[in-house]
Amino acid sequence: MTPTITRTRDELTGARSRIKGRLALVPTMGALHEGHRSLFRRARRSADAVAVSIFVNPLQFGPDEDLDRYPRTLAADLEMCAAEGVDLVFAPPHSVMYPDTPQVTIKSGPMGEVVEGASRPGHFDGMLTVVLKLLNLVRPDMAIFGEKDAQQLAMIRRMVADLNVPVEIAAGPTVREPDGLALSSRNRYLSEAERRTALALSRALHAGADASSGGPEAVLAAANAVLDKAVTADPPLLLDYLVLVDPATFTAITPPYEGPAVLAVAGRVGATHLIDNVPVQFPEEP
Ligand code: PAF
Repeated sequence: MTPTITRTRDELTGARSRIKGRLALVPTMGALHEGHRSLFRRARRSADAVAVSIFVNPLQFGPDEDLDRYPRTLAADLEMCAAEGVDLVFAPPHSVMYPDTPQVTIKSGPMGEVVEGASRPGHFDGMLTVVLKLLNLVRPDMAIFGEKDAQQLAMIRRMVADLNVPVEIAAGPTVREPDGLALSSRNRYLSEAERRTALALSRALHAGADASSGGPEAVLAAANAVLDKAVTADPPLLLDYLVLVDPATFTAITPPYEGPAVLAVAGRVGATHLIDNVPVQFPEEP
């Protein structure tokens, strides 16, 4: 089935009005991969119709980030949408999303300034602003995001709760290569040698998660032991952070701690910024 492809607000409004039943939106920046495909399938299971937005949002990129070279693969993206039976694609040009320089934007607050937000000032403000615009334009009943961007997901849930946005938020699990590397549109930047170094991110997270019975310190120590080697590898990993945080607030957890946590890591290999995370459960003391 070919999806209805819309680029303007009028086209979107017309196509949206023809959709009957529950609509699930998967917002994306394109360069679609198997992680997106699994979100489309998750959307299909939970709704009568599936919409996908494709828009590389300049507001969420810093001045030294990869906005210009971010992969744009619209023809291949539309093929995946068609193969997955997506009903509606919204792929607006910049002038439709931002006809003027926006004066009023979302402020992500303290939660947007920690962890990934500390390395990328303004990133979460720009991301939340475009997500709210997309929700207002598409008016889905639910929207689905990947757990790979765990802080993004937590911030979207928080925005929807704090601003009473009438949409259900759902999440799909991180999809990994057989060797553990989390799928990301940015993986295509990596040379073979850089990819080998990048594998330390997922290996560190899994080593950390496996040490959870020893408590938070043991988790961080096990993950750091893997990362220490990658920091001196050739090419090296330039580590941004390794943190153990509360999944809802992204504040660091302090021992003793019981309950769910997220072990999150970010770093640069060559010119490529990569992030990954795994859930960690700290059992209650007997
Ligand atoms: O995760 C992404 O691809 C983007 O941050 C999103 C949610 C589509 C907003 O631009």
